[in-house]
Amino acid sequence: MSKLWGGCFTEATSSSLAELNCSLPVDSRLFAEDIDGSKAYAQALSKAGIITDLECQNILTGIEVVRYEWIEGLIKFLESDEDVHTVNERRLTELIGDAGQKLHTGRSRNDQVVTDMKLWMRKGIRETLSEFEKTISAGISLAEKYKQVIMPGYTHLQRAQAVLFPHWVMSHMTALKEDAKRFLDLKKRSNILPLGSGAIAGNPLNIDREFLAEKLGFDGVTSNSMHAVGDRDFVIDFIYCASMTSTHLSRLSEDLILYATKEFNFVRISDKFSTGSSLMPQKRNPDSLELVRGISGIIFGNLSGIMMTVKGTPSTYNKDLQYDKKFLFDSFDQLKKVLDITAGVLSTLSVNGEVMEAALSSDMLATDWAYYLVRKGVPFRTAHHTIGQVVASGEKKQVKITDLSLPDLRNICDKFDEDLFTHASDFRKNIEQYKATGGTSSVTVKKQLVEMKEFLREL
Ligand code: ARG
Repeated sequence: MSKLWGGCFTEATSSSLAELNCSLPVDSRLFAEDIDGSKAYAQALSKAGIITDLECQNILTGIEVVRYEWIEGLIKFLESDEDVHTVNERRLTELIGDAGQKLHTGRSRNDQVVTDMKLWMRKGIRETLSEFEKTISAGISLAEKYKQVIMPGYTHLQRAQAVLFPHWVMSHMTALKEDAKRFLDLKKRSNILPLGSGAIAGNPLNIDREFLAEKLGFDGVTSNSMHAVGDRDFVIDFIYCASMTSTHLSRLSEDLILYATKEFNFVRISDKFSTGSSLMPQKRNPDSLELVRGISGIIFGNLSGIMMTVKGTPSTYNKDLQYDKKFLFDSFDQLKKVLDITAGVLSTLSVNGEVMEAALSSDMLATDWAYYLVRKGVPFRTAHHTIGQVVASGEKKQVKITDLSLPDLRNICDKFDEDLFTHASDFRKNIEQYKATGGTSSVTVKKQLVEMKEFLREL
């Protein structure tokens, strides 16, 4: 069987071009979406009177046979097949004859492929969101399991203030929630049907595009055919959302890799998600998290890859765009893997609460001591300076600030009292002060958990 477009050609395609041009190894993944799109299109053709009811019926039945052949691995590719669209049309025509040849009337692979991609992406986002659900749920369980644990919080990787361990967990889950929202927005925004745009100029055959949109579950139809066939913004958006997510997973990994070192010893990554060294018998390496961190580079590479590809193309469809699928599918696959691995790591993580609490050091009380003075009427700037002097005095005497005597402290500021030691030096009591929404008090952390669970119901 000859190609679908060979009419004006006198020479055969070079074998090296045929090989480069063939996208089947990648776009076979669209077979089901391509079939769904064709079924809707056949019905639109019939509605417009371009094919008869019988021809439409034959197409609908025949294309289901093609679907069955894909699913069962019975579909055979011919040398003349270029992509999933040509395979489906060629096989349909082999099965049902002439009616198959009418299916493509007024349609182009340009509007067809972008429709298939949007259909696929819709499903891809649904699957991605269910991976988010798993990972965030694992984070919630971890936070709840160790809800009392206090840990040193870091900025610049320097000891900053004491926080609840679940507050740290939820900081990462909040980033993932924002990522999930980005995917939800994209799902909504991109759900506009390109089919009926033809190759570039639109459809001249009275095809009812609103009917097509309804059949295929789209919320509307694209408004400019030239834009529609060349538009890959939704692919870039997907890969951007995936890049952001993998960036967040990479940062979480980085925290955990550090906390799992013997120097920190805050957490232990389960054997299930660690590997050993072929040389050093004592090693337990956090490979799972290093791979998560590494994959973020791959996904980000896909983002620059697709952007570089699209930026060079003139308007409408150009064959460069065929590579969009490689970037999209790979980003989807990689993201799914890293969300899954992260869920596994979180749900099997052991937390050394005692080690975390033992790592709290009295200098981490400095901010709360400043607030102590503020509560006694000292302006914050003065209080900050005063506690700075307290810290310096401790350093000079080589003692912790909590080991300085009250008279020593009073020499610096006469507002200090016994309650500095009984109240303002207790990490747990200090944590409970941070009650403003978003803070680390137990009440506000609980609120975060409740809200996160509510959000998961939206996914
Ligand atoms: N396989 C092509 C792709 O994925 C389908 C569109 C081909 N269009 C064309 N005008 N040759 O981009």
